[in-house]
Amino acid sequence: MTENATKPYIVELQSRPAFTRYARLHDDQARQRTVLLAPERAYELDAISLLVLRQINGRTPLSDLCQSLAQQFTAPFEVIAKDVLHLLQGLADKRLLCDGPPEQLPTTALTTRAPISPRAGGPTGLLAELTHRCPLQCPYCSNPLELERANTELQADQWGEIFRQAASIGVLQLHLSGGEPTARRDIEEIISHAVKAGLYTNLITSAVLLTQPQLQRFADIGLDHVQISIQDIDADNADYISGYRGGVPKKYQVAQWVRNLGLGLTINAPIHRQNIENLPKIIDFAVEVDAQRIEIAHIQYYAWAITNRAALIPTRETFLKTVSLVEELKAQLKGVLNFDFVVHDHYATRPKTCTGGWGQSILVVTPSGKALPCHAAQTLPNLTFDNVLERPLEEIWFQSSAFNAFRGTEWMKEPCRSCDRRKIDFGGCRCQAFLVTNDPAATDPACSLSPQHAFFAALGEDESLAPAPAFIYRRFGSGAFDAN
Ligand code: SF4
Ligand code: FES
Repeated sequence: MTENATKPYIVELQSRPAFTRYARLHDDQARQRTVLLAPERAYELDAISLLVLRQINGRTPLSDLCQSLAQQFTAPFEVIAKDVLHLLQGLADKRLLCDGPPEQLPTTALTTRAPISPRAGGPTGLLAELTHRCPLQCPYCSNPLELERANTELQADQWGEIFRQAASIGVLQLHLSGGEPTARRDIEEIISHAVKAGLYTNLITSAVLLTQPQLQRFADIGLDHVQISIQDIDADNADYISGYRGGVPKKYQVAQWVRNLGLGLTINAPIHRQNIENLPKIIDFAVEVDAQRIEIAHIQYYAWAITNRAALIPTRETFLKTVSLVEELKAQLKGVLNFDFVVHDHYATRPKTCTGGWGQSILVVTPSGKALPCHAAQTLPNLTFDNVLERPLEEIWFQSSAFNAFRGTEWMKEPCRSCDRRKIDFGGCRCQAFLVTNDPAATDPACSLSPQHAFFAALGEDESLAPAPAFIYRRFGSGAFDAN
């Protein structure tokens, strides 16, 4: 691993911890609790943790804080100190704390708050697909086969209204995505609406269109976190995979701007047959640019990725190597880099809890305003999706037929219906179940209990062992990319 790696922050009694620019306490009025908002996460806190976290300010040494807590609770100093150090070391290992006041403070996000109506059961995350336009042509693009055109995209003030409605039903985290969200000329206005709504705002970008002054303005407005996607770290191979020249140096530069501004940074690395050998170098890159998180995601095969499955699917052996590599580096890089690892479905034995369970925590809004329970939901038959311009978001979330179609466990068939994991993984991915079995209510074939599992696993192995065909690129419209 790189010698330039950030050193882990060891929290001691003389430390003066504070939250970083991209972590903050938030009053979650919809659920009547206070949470810690951080990149892609909302941490629940017990009363004692909250008491401690409200007092860390980058100036007071922990010894003073522990002394005052020991007096308040008439408890031994050593006992209090042990608990406080344990709590704060956990957050430091997640890279959410710094020693001393953070160099860059959030501008407005700390003070904004949405007019929340107290109603439990709402979503916690909104994925806002601002546009389907994109300068890259990735062969595993997860956007629908039928892309929405620029002239149907919602306006910035319409997004603002959606963000306010989302906050009012309990959304905490907003993911601005695409396509490439920075292809929109009104992106600053959109970020501004998000911050005013009190949402933790995350920009998911390929980074190739960004400039430093633009990113500076995003940070000034109150953007919290940036997620940069990486096709590979080998520049030629990255160009080959993305169908775009010069991506790697630009991503390297943007990652440095992001960190210099104190914003949170995640590197997102979709992994497949054509870049899997470079995974150690990709992780090295994430460490070098001081990302706090890396998402290593084996490709999911739906939408455009199916077209290129045979060119993308890795062998079982190379997949297993990634599992052990990530396990090893997780331990080695504790306090430096946090890992999210999405396993390869064909070689799994249990499915992922796709989207956190259908209609449970996430909602997606497409560029023209269609509300979806997952971003691939339009691949399923017989579902009608409401448009946010025609129906309030709250009504769509709680009452629409599409959101209720696979919510909970009532819709399940065997083996899921009587399985003790049914409330853990909710039967896996509906889109993949339909794709392989032609039945959207079937068990995800990634599950070893599915009757189609053996066929599904063999399909992966067979394709991965055959010579890889050339990519069929995803070209947008006539092939010309048009930012507006
Ligand atoms: Fe999950 Fe269904 Fe498999 Fe049980 S049978 S592990 S609920 S997918
Ligand atoms: Fe649709 Fe998994 S992608 S439920």
